[in-house]
Amino acid sequence: MCGIVGFIGNKNAKDIILNGLTRLEYRGYDSAGLSLFNNRYQIFDVYKDEGRVQKLIDSTKNAPFSNIGIGHTRWATHGRVNQENSHPHYSQTRRFIIVHNGVIENYQQLKDQYLSKSKFYSETDTEVIAQLIETFSQTLHVENAITTTLKLLHGSYALLVLDANDPEKIYAAKYKSPLVIGKSSEGITIASDLMALIGYSNTYHPLEDKTFVVARKDDVRVFNLDHLPIDVEFKPLELTDTDTTKGEFAHYMMKEIHEQPSVIRRIITNYFVPNQTFINPEIIQSIQGSDRVYILAAGTSMHAGLVGKQLLEKLAFIPVEVHIASEFAYQKPLLSKNPFFILITQSGETADLRACVVSINEMKYKSLTITNVPTSTLAREATYSLELFAGPEIAVASTKAYVAQVSVLAILAYELSSKSFDIKKELSIAALSIEHFLENQAMLYLTRNYLTKRNCFFIGRGLDYLVGLEAALKLKEISYIQTEGFAAGELKHGTIALIEDGTPVIALISDPTINGNTRSNLKEVQARGANTFRIVMESCKQEGDQVILEDVHPLLTPLVMVVPTQLIAYYAALERSYDIDKPRNLAKSVTVE
Ligand code: G6P
Repeated sequence: MCGIVGFIGNKNAKDIILNGLTRLEYRGYDSAGLSLFNNRYQIFDVYKDEGRVQKLIDSTKNAPFSNIGIGHTRWATHGRVNQENSHPHYSQTRRFIIVHNGVIENYQQLKDQYLSKSKFYSETDTEVIAQLIETFSQTLHVENAITTTLKLLHGSYALLVLDANDPEKIYAAKYKSPLVIGKSSEGITIASDLMALIGYSNTYHPLEDKTFVVARKDDVRVFNLDHLPIDVEFKPLELTDTDTTKGEFAHYMMKEIHEQPSVIRRIITNYFVPNQTFINPEIIQSIQGSDRVYILAAGTSMHAGLVGKQLLEKLAFIPVEVHIASEFAYQKPLLSKNPFFILITQSGETADLRACVVSINEMKYKSLTITNVPTSTLAREATYSLELFAGPEIAVASTKAYVAQVSVLAILAYELSSKSFDIKKELSIAALSIEHFLENQAMLYLTRNYLTKRNCFFIGRGLDYLVGLEAALKLKEISYIQTEGFAAGELKHGTIALIEDGTPVIALISDPTINGNTRSNLKEVQARGANTFRIVMESCKQEGDQVILEDVHPLLTPLVMVVPTQLIAYYAALERSYDIDKPRNLAKSVTVE
């Protein structure tokens, strides 16, 4: 959601920014724009429009060389999707050019209070920032004009600012929305995430909240909002191009589905040094010392959290509640006396979760973020963090992050348990089971013959029901088929009314103890015309079942059962020629509430 890239150095900023914006496309956006210095006219040219980055690449084909520039992909919040509302925005005289990720909640009040005489060019909250900087710069030094503006803003921002009177600097600032600075001998790149730095930076620093940056081509200074310098540490950037390319696959989603066995293996390697886990013992003690665990998450991560509850309750006997982050943030349940919070988030930047962690910290409770991005805001703001080691997930529809989340939750639950089995071995068996399935899958057949209606149901019991929820989310996200995941036994209490001739119902069956029950529910829908399909584990198989998966530990079945459902979603979208990696209306990293 909204991507930012800025560059100042010895190279053509346009190429670096456009490459960076292309790499950030996965975050989701509806417009793209760029500003570059025009040496001839001594102004910053602005190119922007609704649509894809490719359109921007075409429209800037003949842009003159500039060693400085800022770019942006916008996911609309304030103001329609159109050229005027696309970033970069500029101040009235076009002296200050800015790109912004986040939401300025008090923009109307700032407009009324300070900018009644300014001419506005867009409907966005962002433009207020550019206009305020220009207004304050009439009496203050530019850097003070920017920090004065920053102190007035309520909401969130990752911000880059250019000054046409001084095209040797990029100013940057961050509060709540992510921003990283990358350095190399060729220049400084500042972007929303590390992906945009690959190939251009050797080292990076993730900015802290309420920091203000002055970047020159060979120097970066970081200040607090009172303009006092802050020492920052730059770490080596280890991501490479192979982490961010599709390789032999047509889509990132397919690549990421196929990476799942190696993600599980990477987690095993990273979490187990010979006989001990890598989990900080303080995390274990804090959870053991609590009387209830609250898992908070959104989307796919919430579905992983539902499985996590089962793992923690069944292995460690700790009561767990799972809450949707956006609900928990403003509608807290009655908390137990001594709660512990687990935040699950692939990106580590989800604003709904950020709202939760702020209030958890205010209440002085301990928390753990389980994330794919150890430098992310939520990793830094929780008391503890654990890494998913899934590698960059670029397709908007999350696949390998779910498998990584369930695996790490399983290891955490195991560490809290009496350790009555070998979790490393069981996770390896799950990785192998996925691998064998992926070698032999023939899911295209399924989508051609089954998913012919506007709707679809996944049904299952126990863990299979939880996988069904994720399966339904995946299918609706990328194929736009209206899909629900249902507890198989609950269907007859209402939803069965929706079953008509040909309605696809996909049953997930991995538990031999309730195999018969789910199959009875299948019979009920078949009797009403449903077109049924079965994804089952070997120990549950019966004549005619379409997908049979090798058995795994009964608590780890979601790791394997979810994979055919990811492929069902993939092929359903492929069959309909939809944009699989960038589905409509969705963003990968949702940094607004
Ligand atoms: C967005 C993505 C989902 C993701 C959810 C939570 O809606 O499109 O795929 O599950 O955010 O993201 P997180 O990064 O917190 O796991």
